[in-house]
Amino acid sequence: MRVDKMISSVKIDTRKNIKRNAKKGELIINGEIEKDSSKKIDPLKDEIIYMGEVVEYFKDLYIMMNKPKGVISSTKDKEETVIDLLDPFYQKFNFNIAGRLDKDSTGLLILSTNGKLIHDIISPNKDIEKKYYVKLKDPIKDDYKEKFEQGIELSKDFVTKPSKIEKIDDKSCYVYITEGKFHQVKRMFEKLDNEVIELKRVRIGNLSLDPHLEEGEYKELTEDEIMNIIK
Ligand code: URA
Repeated sequence: MRVDKMISSVKIDTRKNIKRNAKKGELIINGEIEKDSSKKIDPLKDEIIYMGEVVEYFKDLYIMMNKPKGVISSTKDKEETVIDLLDPFYQKFNFNIAGRLDKDSTGLLILSTNGKLIHDIISPNKDIEKKYYVKLKDPIKDDYKEKFEQGIELSKDFVTKPSKIEKIDDKSCYVYITEGKFHQVKRMFEKLDNEVIELKRVRIGNLSLDPHLEEGEYKELTEDEIMNIIK
């Protein structure tokens, strides 16, 4: 890994500044001044000192959160975001969020500093299935199953991919979709003349929401969980 990438990944400085400061002798690798900020290093073995301070390298972070109602699934906003719920230690990292949830929705969110993984999870081409628990205003009708399987026309130029609905009782169900259009689940039920009154994501790919996580709580994922999300 390039030393400037390692330093900027832990948000100490921009690559441009690192390049300039390295030229001034502010970069030390294993005790030796290094003027080339593109130098390759092993971030877990080499000792890096930048601007007089040891740079601690963190591997990518992967977090599962049970998003509560009332916060925005975004990294920056005027209102409270899911990032504000994290411990200050985590707040210094540059997180990406896999598949936003509406402000009034709850459930599984994956946050990671690994942008490639997040991209793969939300990419429509990868067909990663998301499972939602849905509570409806009106009873589920018999034709919903077929409509979900056929695809529902949300706008003139967009029909949902085949999806599934699994009835729990008269007014609640699980929905399985592979896409993530804006307000998709709510809009699908609107088209069926119904209304979503509660929406919770319970699974993304092979990763289910940990039932021990209360709303607003989060945990780091284990290596196994990370490896299996999109397998
Ligand atoms: N679909 C919606 O309508 N809202 C969400 O938050 C997620 C999926």
